[in-house]
Amino acid sequence: MAEEQQFIPSFTLVRQNNALKDELVTTLTEVIESGMFILGENVATLEKKIAQISQAKYGIGVANGSDALYLTLLACGIGPGDEVITTPFTFFSTAGSISRTGATPVFVDICAETMNIDPSLIEEKITSKTKAILPVHLYGCPAEMDEIAEIAKAYHLKVIEDAAQAIVAEYKKKKVGSLGDACCFSFFPTKNLGSFGDAGMVVTNDEEIAEKIKVFRVHGAKIKYYHDYIGCNSRLDELQAAILNKKLKYLPQWTERRREIAGLYTTLLQNIVNDSSALICPTAPDHVFHVYHQYTIRTDRRDELKNYLSANGIGTAVYYPVPLHLQKAFAHLGYKQGDFEVAEKTCTQVLSLPMYPELTDEEINSITKKVADFFA
Ligand SMILES: Cc1ncc(COP(=O)(O)O)c(C=O)c1O
Repeated sequence: MAEEQQFIPSFTLVRQNNALKDELVTTLTEVIESGMFILGENVATLEKKIAQISQAKYGIGVANGSDALYLTLLACGIGPGDEVITTPFTFFSTAGSISRTGATPVFVDICAETMNIDPSLIEEKITSKTKAILPVHLYGCPAEMDEIAEIAKAYHLKVIEDAAQAIVAEYKKKKVGSLGDACCFSFFPTKNLGSFGDAGMVVTNDEEIAEKIKVFRVHGAKIKYYHDYIGCNSRLDELQAAILNKKLKYLPQWTERRREIAGLYTTLLQNIVNDSSALICPTAPDHVFHVYHQYTIRTDRRDELKNYLSANGIGTAVYYPVPLHLQKAFAHLGYKQGDFEVAEKTCTQVLSLPMYPELTDEEINSITKKVADFFA
């Protein structure tokens, strides 16, 4: 009886916040009492720790993941007249950040299996204007970085990882953050490590990139009130850093639980949905450590399934309904329907099931039962 009335949201922070409330209130109180809100000890500590867990030398806290991308591109010298290769199947920010620098995003279709940029299609898009490749580790699954690095090396391009959804994910035993020239994280509240607002970080092994971003985030001033560049105001603040420092110690167990939930979903779904072509479960190559920011299934009956689950008290989400080359904001780039068939089809099929470490096995069971009922 409870099963019919239960509501399982596609995402919630209430459970996590309740569990950590005392600890988080204490740390926020400490910041308030310190009177230090901008670029203090909490930010410095977080920068060190995030760099360390990403196997990178430097961490630079910024206001959000979008600015992390934008400032990294600027620090790589990218601007008007340049082209940056990326995926059309990602959050808007990935390509929006390229456009903000004045450069042009150039899209390349995705692999049907991983839903990440297809490295075999990159080379044909390289021109004399290409300056960088910006792969996204979508849903927490690292892109094929060896192939991307090889192409980048051959054409002298920078590689900037968009790891907004993939903190502590690994590619061939190396952490995201150590696989390109620089890597960008978002700590938006829904991310695997989320703040109580907006926050982001760049990690890099390149001292020059790190130093530039440090300066760009404070209006281009190395010395206060002496401005060498235009820059902007993009700082990660102390309150957010304090929260993130506290939450960081739980990240390994949260990541393990996400992976466990994904395993459980796949086992249960594969057992109950007889027609394997009706529903595709996410898979990851053996050489990656997927951190399951999302557990995203695919079906041609996506909208029907979404409505059915919603009517049965189960929240789901569509990341993303429209590929970037067909977004109105990018109409000036001149792409059309049919340009990236895999991304276009994927946008019509994807459905992300509830995914957060606090989900119970019982909830996963009832979600998968409802999916099975739908396909029965
Ligand atoms: C793939 C991807 N890139 C970039 C971003 C931008 O991060 P933020 O929302 O912190 O600006 C996000 C976050 O939503 C994202 O999912």
